Amino acid sequence: MRFQAPRGTQDILPGASHAWRRIEGEFAEWMSLHGYKEIRTPAFEDTELFVRTSGDTSDIVTKQMYTFTDKGGRSVTLKPEGTAPAMRALIEHALCPSGSVARLFYVTPIFRYERPQKGRLRQAHQLGFELVGSASPEADAEVIELTVGFYRRIGIGSIKVLLNSLGRSQCRASFREAVLEHARPFLKDQPEEFRARAEANPLRLLDSKDPEVQEAMRGGPCVLDHLEPDSRERFHRLQELLSEADVEFEVRPEIVRGLDYYTETVFEVQSGALGAQSALCGGGRYDDLIHELGGPGMPSVGVAMGIERALIVLEAEGALWPEPPLDAYVACVGHEARSAARALCRSLREHGVSCVMDLDGRSLKAQMKQADRLAARRVVLLGEEELAGGEATVRNLADGTQIRVPLQRVAHAVREGS
Ligand code: HAM
Repeated sequence: MRFQAPRGTQDILPGASHAWRRIEGEFAEWMSLHGYKEIRTPAFEDTELFVRTSGDTSDIVTKQMYTFTDKGGRSVTLKPEGTAPAMRALIEHALCPSGSVARLFYVTPIFRYERPQKGRLRQAHQLGFELVGSASPEADAEVIELTVGFYRRIGIGSIKVLLNSLGRSQCRASFREAVLEHARPFLKDQPEEFRARAEANPLRLLDSKDPEVQEAMRGGPCVLDHLEPDSRERFHRLQELLSEADVEFEVRPEIVRGLDYYTETVFEVQSGALGAQSALCGGGRYDDLIHELGGPGMPSVGVAMGIERALIVLEAEGALWPEPPLDAYVACVGHEARSAARALCRSLREHGVSCVMDLDGRSLKAQMKQADRLAARRVVLLGEEELAGGEATVRNLADGTQIRVPLQRVAHAVREGS
């Protein structure tokens, strides 16, 4: 039997992994420039953590979690998102003493039992960050500005920021009622289970991907009409701050997000290059989550950006980072030359020149073929003649030119013209 990677997962192969390391490195640098510190949380958590925070009517909890009972009889779940685990750790280790602000970032796999397609996987990967301890719209603006700045930094140009406010819990209660009122004629012909879920959380109707539901909700109530005056003022201030930072955005009341923990600001960044899965990232404010987990009330805001989706857009825009080529293949002929070649490789690597050599005493022709296959920029040849003179021949594989240089100059010659 031949095994394959599980459906909805992918192997990141040599050649592609370089772009992953690069995007993760760019993200870590961008984050530390803004004072964010990395947090790493386990791959699995107590199932209740996600049920309590993502919402027991959300698609994630009802349909998508990888949940199992471990050998000790505990129900555990592979993390479907990074915010709740980060906040669990923040409370557990008291990372944000009262009156202070904590800035955290993470790079994490997430696991969701989705219907796989391009840009939608069962194991996906996120770059996320969370700003804890500030209720100010300036915190929301910081998160959105950093998100847009990151996409710019890595070379993604064509993005759209979609912004909305869900208000606080009182406002959401009146909005839910209005959504339910609008949906009633449609709901009365729906199966009992569907109706019960919609009644438990009518907002789910608004982000449904089902065209029939979308049609039924057309012309429905607008969340912005239900905002309390202070939420409205806050949302207005956020828009001013974004304009001041030159972040373009569109207010889109249909953005409600698939997780239940959001309050006030929610946002997504979209790219046309993504097709159906157009959200490059999503985030927002979640002022009640930490309290919900037994911590002190702490207003917070954050975002998570899908790595796979960012790489799809970079590739579509021709901006994906190519893997740096191997600098040199060290080829040699004869027993004595092999020992000299090993020493030369050591010295080249000390000078930061990447190189490999044959391990199996192959013929020179086979070694040249190997150098070609590895797409090495140069072949460094150590034959009897070269060895006798304490030299090596450095051949440029692209144009066939070659020079002979003393062994101490090989690193320099390989680098030249690179
Ligand atoms: P989310 O919208 O569920 O939010 O996911 C954020 C991003 O992760 C998506 O926009 C997408 O780029 C990527 N993503 C999610 N699921 C998949 C998947 N199945 N395949 C490929 N990419 C995927 C959250 O996870 C929140 N924790 C964000 C947040 C942080 N809110 C506040 N802080």
